[in-house]
Amino acid sequence: MEASDDIEVRQVTAEDSEQLMAFLLEHYYPEEPLTAGTSPPEPEEADKTFLLSNIPNGTCYVALERGSSRIVGAVVAGYKDADMPKIIAEEAFTYRNTKWGNILSILAEVEAGSDVCRRFDLPSCIHVHALAVNPQVRGRGLGVRLMNAIAARTVELGQPLVCVDCTSVYSAKLMERLGYQLIHTLRYEHHLDARGQQIIQPPKPHESVQTFVLKL
Ligand code: ACO
Repeated sequence: MEASDDIEVRQVTAEDSEQLMAFLLEHYYPEEPLTAGTSPPEPEEADKTFLLSNIPNGTCYVALERGSSRIVGAVVAGYKDADMPKIIAEEAFTYRNTKWGNILSILAEVEAGSDVCRRFDLPSCIHVHALAVNPQVRGRGLGVRLMNAIAARTVELGQPLVCVDCTSVYSAKLMERLGYQLIHTLRYEHHLDARGQQIIQPPKPHESVQTFVLKL
């Protein structure tokens, strides 16, 4: 467990599932550009189920206020391998014409373009799926602490690399500050459906999904 000042960062357990999802529904989904940029505003069950399915890997962390144990930040990560571009493309087809399907469609294009495991010739790596901090405590380095917890866990698991698709300019700036390497960019205006319409309409100032990696 990492600890400093009034906030501690620790691994998520199965008992935290409900509180973690309540935090994500309040502070991740409403602002995250893929969720905010597709309708309806609420995330679908398949999306929520997918994020929570990562907890048993021990690759999810929360930032908690000491005393109250209120969650003020969270990061959800999991394993991926070279089959991921194919798997996400298949899932995007399964969920086509739904909000989750539209989100998966851009993630499938990003996965195909970044192709991290093949690009770096790795059997597997750790992928960060979601990162959020309560607006009341942003700008205090909690995103950094949560990402550092993931990097430390990645080393502990014997994995060689952390990957993250930054759908937000704020998370992209954070990865740059942490020394992550930018390997792929897909602009939202270039991700189109069969009729040539833009699929994701993110709120300003978000313009692209940027994939960053940290080799460990
Ligand atoms: N809107 C406006 N300003 C912001 C935002 C935001 N979403 N995020 C950070 N800032 C500001 C901070 O207040 C800080 O300002 P300051 O320098 O004046 O103090 C500055 O940007 C730097 O902030 P960081 O310390 O880098 O931000 P922090 O780690 O606290 O939060 C995070 C970054 C977690 C990405 C946050 O923006 C967030 O929770 N966003 C909502 C969910 C989201 O979009 N997540 C990323 C999607 S990509 C992914 O999940 C893999």
